[in-house]
Amino acid sequence: MWAAHTAPRPPPLQAAAVTDATPLLSTPDAWAAFQGTRRSGRTRQLLSLDDFEAAARCVLPRPIFGYVCGAAEDNRALADNRQAFDELALVPRVLCNVAQRQQGVTLFGQRYASPFGIAPMGIAALSAYGADVALARAAAQARIPAVLSGSSLTPLEEVMQAAPDTWFQAYLPGTPERISALLQRVAAARVRTLVVTVDIPVAGNRENNLRAGFSTPLRPSLRLVWDGLARPRWLCGTMLRTLIKRGMPHFENSFAERGAPILSSRVQRDFSERDHFDWSHLARIRRQWQGTLVVKGILSPADAAQARRHGVDGLIVSNHGGRQLDGAVAPLRVLPAIAEAAGSAMTVMLDGGVRRGTDVLKALALGAQAVFVGRPFNYAAAVDGQAGVAAAIELLRAEVDRNLAMLGLTGCDQLGPQHLLDRRLPWPLVPTPAAHRSQPQGDA
Ligand SMILES: Cc1cc2nc3c(=O)[nH]c(=O)nc-3n(C[C@H](O)[C@H](O)[C@H](O)COP(=O)(O)O)c2cc1C
Repeated sequence: MWAAHTAPRPPPLQAAAVTDATPLLSTPDAWAAFQGTRRSGRTRQLLSLDDFEAAARCVLPRPIFGYVCGAAEDNRALADNRQAFDELALVPRVLCNVAQRQQGVTLFGQRYASPFGIAPMGIAALSAYGADVALARAAAQARIPAVLSGSSLTPLEEVMQAAPDTWFQAYLPGTPERISALLQRVAAARVRTLVVTVDIPVAGNRENNLRAGFSTPLRPSLRLVWDGLARPRWLCGTMLRTLIKRGMPHFENSFAERGAPILSSRVQRDFSERDHFDWSHLARIRRQWQGTLVVKGILSPADAAQARRHGVDGLIVSNHGGRQLDGAVAPLRVLPAIAEAAGSAMTVMLDGGVRRGTDVLKALALGAQAVFVGRPFNYAAAVDGQAGVAAAIELLRAEVDRNLAMLGLTGCDQLGPQHLLDRRLPWPLVPTPAAHRSQPQGDA
């Protein structure tokens, strides 16, 4: 049954360790990261987040890589997520003395070292051994937020023990009783920030998964064996290692109890009915959940206003990385209207297509307080586990630092629409100073 808690919510967690005086990124660090001098052999050649995708393709079996990189139907939403960033040009200011810059942001009362975090990604533990813990630990060490997926294969209690500030993302089970039981488990694991993903009333049409031979659970077949044998490093370092050390992975966090195994010829995964959910379910969750509540998958200002009325603390503006409704609007395009609807009552965050420091800054300029990055961090775990994720974080952090400086800024809070120009709009027809001078001065 639903438990309606009336006790006041605890104050948001205060981070003791991170202050703006803490050196978050020095320019020499950025250069070291850029030159690869502080990175291990596996990531030394990787100079941008996109480089991790090519490297992961060589490591992961075809079905697993296909699952991570794929989106829904014709990949229109996936493509537009990038296109929306590309349509914006940056307008730098110069001679601003940017020597004392820092990129930290405060979310829900906690100070983070960078304005980006790791998005929740299901089944990450098939990309690398212990990937859920690796992602969470790398984020904790870099002092950025990470969200554990509700479709993950590692018990959330284990991840929370390894990285106690990790956020948890839930897909709602089908009945109020099961939702309530899951929330009780999440609270008992000392999760403070709950992210409820709401853009999955039904499963997206991921034809790409089928074409790549991916399903959940994976069905044993000669083709699957061949795909695994074709990637011996993954077969030994991830799959066999996992089976030997941890046994067959299961969906651990979809419900209060353990879910289906990841590999089975017979078991059906419980995709419990979600198409009947409405705002009354969120209202109940708000009554039960005493920590920070974030809703992920909002694309309409009207829904943002609804969330605000329901006492939600934060939003992640997201089209699920293009993996749900194909043709869904890119989050960046609706961000300004959603930020306006949210006002100061909710923290607005965004994900989808963020690949560069400039993308991070464009989203912040349009009203996001932070962004999340998905696929590249999954690839980074596949390439080099926790060290790979740390390397990817460092790369993006160095880009944010460098781009802040070149924009003439010393902090993320200084970003605004004045730093952006829509490439598709006609150039403003403002007379140049020279034109002014040559104009007739009047009759006199
Ligand atoms: C492999 C993979 C698994 C995902 N699993 C989840 C999930 O379990 N829960 C969720 O809310 N979003 C999930 N997402 C969506 C991400 O949280 C995020 O919205 C998206 O990846 C952001 O786009 P990007 O990959 O372009 O950065 C997943 C995305 C990927 C790529």
